Amino acid sequence: MTPACLARRAIFAEALVREAGDMALQMRRVPESLAVETKGVRDFVTAADKAVEALIVTRITRAFGDAVLGEELGGAVDAETLWIVDPIDGTYNYLHGNPRWCVSLGFLLDGRPELGFINAAQRDAMYTSQRGHGAFRNGQRLAVSGAAMSAAPLVEVGVSSRKPLDDYLGTVKRLMSANVETRRCGSGALGLAQVATGEIDGYFERHINAWDVAAGLLLVTEAGGCVNDFFAGDGIRNGNPVLACAPWLVSQMTAILEFDL
Ligand code: IPD
Repeated sequence: MTPACLARRAIFAEALVREAGDMALQMRRVPESLAVETKGVRDFVTAADKAVEALIVTRITRAFGDAVLGEELGGAVDAETLWIVDPIDGTYNYLHGNPRWCVSLGFLLDGRPELGFINAAQRDAMYTSQRGHGAFRNGQRLAVSGAAMSAAPLVEVGVSSRKPLDDYLGTVKRLMSANVETRRCGSGALGLAQVATGEIDGYFERHINAWDVAAGLLLVTEAGGCVNDFFAGDGIRNGNPVLACAPWLVSQMTAILEFDL
């Protein structure tokens, strides 16, 4: 793909993710949009999730004919040009009016992330990244935290019903016993975005889906952070563990978690 084709997609996707975030925000005010269907244990989908994903899929398909994989509607997994969308990451928060949710859209070329956009519309925070061009929040360049934070490491540990609860509790216990403070905020995409901004030093989850991380992983690497090879193997189709952190925290995290980057 030529740099011009990629640049066209970057401009298009940023505008689309802004529009999608505004749409989700407006739909929050309409009670019918919040009607939930249950997908699994503590796993819901709202009418807003479906409408936002449909908007993104329709627009991308019409503009470029690229493949799109989405959390709610599925799609291709092995296309050369592949967009991966989570229409609302942090659905639980969205339902409650907690602003920690976002629209996340990543673009992969031959399986490698090239573009990442996250719109936390209720927080007025737009995160953008392009491989080799840096990561930004509302236009301000981002950098992961520095080693000055090593006296007080702060990481988010994500959880879902896809893994046993005891695994999550054990992970938190191991980290906190090693004086690594933990949080859990309910949006994997925004957890990664916060690693990129340096607001937290790392993010770990034993299993997460590609749509939760397709944009955020690029933000982290473009902000100078380290991530595991999430898209290896069957990662796009079936998800994988995710570890993302500032370089100074890598050896501590991999030792505590017994997990290699
Ligand atoms: C979930 C959130 C959560 C993460 C889960 C995801 P959803 O996505 O990102 O933080 O821990 O693994 O499934 O259901 O809110 O789109």
